[in-house]
Amino acid sequence: PTGLLSDTLARPLRDLRISVTDRCNFRCSYCMPSEVFNKDYAFLPQTSLLSFEEITRLARIFVAHGVEKIRLTGGEPLLRKHLEVLIEMLAKLQTPEGRPLDITLTTNASLLARKAQSLKDAGLQRVTVSLDGLDDATFRRMNDVDFPVADVLKGIEVAQKVGLSPIKINMVVKRGTNDAEILPMARHFRHSGAVLRFIEYMDVGATNGWRMDEVLPSAQVIERINAEFPLTSINPNYTGETAGRWRYADGGGEIGVISSVTQAFCSDCNRARLSTEGKLFLCLFASQGHDLRALLRGGYADDQIAGAVSHIWQKRDDRYSELRAAMPADTSPLDNGLKRVEMSYIGG
Ligand code: GTP
Ligand code: 5AD
Ligand code: SF4
Ligand code: SF4
Repeated sequence: PTGLLSDTLARPLRDLRISVTDRCNFRCSYCMPSEVFNKDYAFLPQTSLLSFEEITRLARIFVAHGVEKIRLTGGEPLLRKHLEVLIEMLAKLQTPEGRPLDITLTTNASLLARKAQSLKDAGLQRVTVSLDGLDDATFRRMNDVDFPVADVLKGIEVAQKVGLSPIKINMVVKRGTNDAEILPMARHFRHSGAVLRFIEYMDVGATNGWRMDEVLPSAQVIERINAEFPLTSINPNYTGETAGRWRYADGGGEIGVISSVTQAFCSDCNRARLSTEGKLFLCLFASQGHDLRALLRGGYADDQIAGAVSHIWQKRDDRYSELRAAMPADTSPLDNGLKRVEMSYIGG
């Protein structure tokens, strides 16, 4: 059983995010706080990870169900050995209409300068780089492993040179930590061809100690930038886009704001997430996933797995950010006692 799917809120399945490792060489406080993700933390053992063959087999099933875009995530995806081999395998897949997929990757760029060319050669089209500021001291503090900002900028430059574009730059804004970097980042990436996007700090996972007062609403980000460089709002590129788009009135390019806290965008959410060990999650804020690895390794045929995926998607009713927005600050819609899964495990 293949064909287009729709969930209980009439949302199609279009975007599959595949986490290829739960490890990262950074310890951003909003994602993998070093007090929790230390030497005693139990990362997944090698045997738990989906192999490239298993990932590709699942990807083919998802593509038959309407997925047009695949994003590789982590942890830090470039830490997964021979990732270019997986990209080559995924790049051969086509939509039922015979179109190539949109294949991209979210990275902290620490290894990007070294790997950009081989990723491009393998068939990767573009990359999204996480970068939380330009001030070296602020950046080193945010990644919490003393990683220099210059190396990330070098990675971005090499990626642009080899044609992994248009590059997007994601900056998570934490009020009082890096909001002073908003304007320097805007100035730096104007006229660069890269699209800078500001992300509201989210209450994802169970370890980052999220508080509403550390969220800087995107409306204020826009206000601050608009005061220096006038902005005009522009239409989305496609239905369900996470970012609201704005253009510099003087032709300096475009920026985006991802406002999942102050303006939830669940109503068009067409994203599914596949964890490193093959569990399917229907929401970034879910506490439980559906074990597809058990089917892969249990001898099930492709059409049986496809049937399971249809069944799971058709029952989907997740809309966490919308529910949370309707509740008092600092309360959570998940009152079932289960912990929200970590973003480093299911992928951004
Ligand atoms: P483009 O194809 O480049 O437009 O990518 P995208 O915006 O779909 O993906 P990207 O991975 O760049 O997403 C940017 C950030 O938005 C993520 O790192 C998350 O912080 C956030 N985000 C993405 N998808 C969701 C979602 O479904 N729900 C919520 N709450 N946040 C999301
Ligand atoms: N809030 C917002 N975005 C987050 N990311 C990770 N944790 C959070 C959070 N708490 C996103 C960032 C980063 C990507 C890998 O995950 O966008 O770029
Ligand atoms: Fe690593 Fe990205 Fe998480 Fe930072 S946000 S700890 S770079 S996975
Ligand atoms: Fe989609 Fe869940 Fe994010 Fe809403 S909170 S946009 S349903 S992933």
